[in-house]
Amino acid sequence: MKAFKRNKPLSNRKGIILAGGLGKRLRPLTFSISKQLMPVYDKPMIYYPLSTLMLSGIKEILIITVKEDQNAFKRLLGDGQKWGMKFNYAVQDRPEGIPQAILIGKEFIGNSDIAIALGDNLFYGNDLISLLSSANSRKVGSTIFAYLVNDPERYGVVQFSNSRKVISIEEKPKKPLSKYAITGLYFYDNSVVERAQKLKFSDRKELEITALNNMYLEDELLNVEIMGRGFAWLDTGTFDSLHEAGSFIRTLENRQGLKVGCPEEIAWRLGWINDQDLKNLADPLTKSGYGKYLLKLLEGQKSLDGIS
Ligand code: DAU
Repeated sequence: MKAFKRNKPLSNRKGIILAGGLGKRLRPLTFSISKQLMPVYDKPMIYYPLSTLMLSGIKEILIITVKEDQNAFKRLLGDGQKWGMKFNYAVQDRPEGIPQAILIGKEFIGNSDIAIALGDNLFYGNDLISLLSSANSRKVGSTIFAYLVNDPERYGVVQFSNSRKVISIEEKPKKPLSKYAITGLYFYDNSVVERAQKLKFSDRKELEITALNNMYLEDELLNVEIMGRGFAWLDTGTFDSLHEAGSFIRTLENRQGLKVGCPEEIAWRLGWINDQDLKNLADPLTKSGYGKYLLKLLEGQKSLDGIS
């Protein structure tokens, strides 16, 4: 028995992974390789946000990169069929803000709801699947996630009232009104397309995701879920945070013998690919040990554990 199985996606929501930007804080690493292809222990960074969207039940994803990197992403991920998914690709010429992903992806989005995942955000936690599934099944408005951090001034920051009502969201405030950062995972209904078109460039010449979230807040359509202390939310944009994320994944994986952010496993557990498909995926990967892990899943060794 697989630990979780869902043959059908939970909704018609599509996903977008924003994997552009110049990775300036990781130079010289990023002079010739995209940040989101850097290793986080045993996988390319993009596997983690991709897994997050998959665990939400999302099968169709648009991957937005800078032009020069697109072929490298295509070589890694292909058209998604091998994982029972569908991947599309688009280019962002300049990093002019997260909501630009919506304008770039307008045709891809069509009439669907969407989830946007930043390509450098990594989530881990016991109740992640139910948190994601419930965000996915919400039909109207937006769901974003807040996480307690030590350095809120680096992020979008949400202020709550005593009754946990959202009062405000500010982008990188000098004097944060709380320690709750907004993570890089955003669920929106289809009205996001119209809303994104109304955004104006900010003083730092970006379309601001916080301005978009504030539109939902003003319309009382913004739902902020707190990710509690049982979750880990890591971003991987600096030498130290990249290294720490790698160590974190290595520690977890070696301790439990279970992989974190393994798209092949997730696709298999969700029933998007069958046993033979998983075996075919494992074969070229056996020398690194990654493939052996996939084959062990087939032997049933992970039957009761899974990713819960
Ligand atoms: O990580 C969560 C934070 O992400 C939120 O708390 C903030 O509200 C949000 O503005 C964003 O802040 P960052 O300073 O982390 O954004 P950054 O410009 O570093 O971009 C995050 C990732 O998205 C990065 O991997 C590059 C990619 N990106 C970003 C922009 C602005 C793009 O691909 N294109 C873009 O235009």
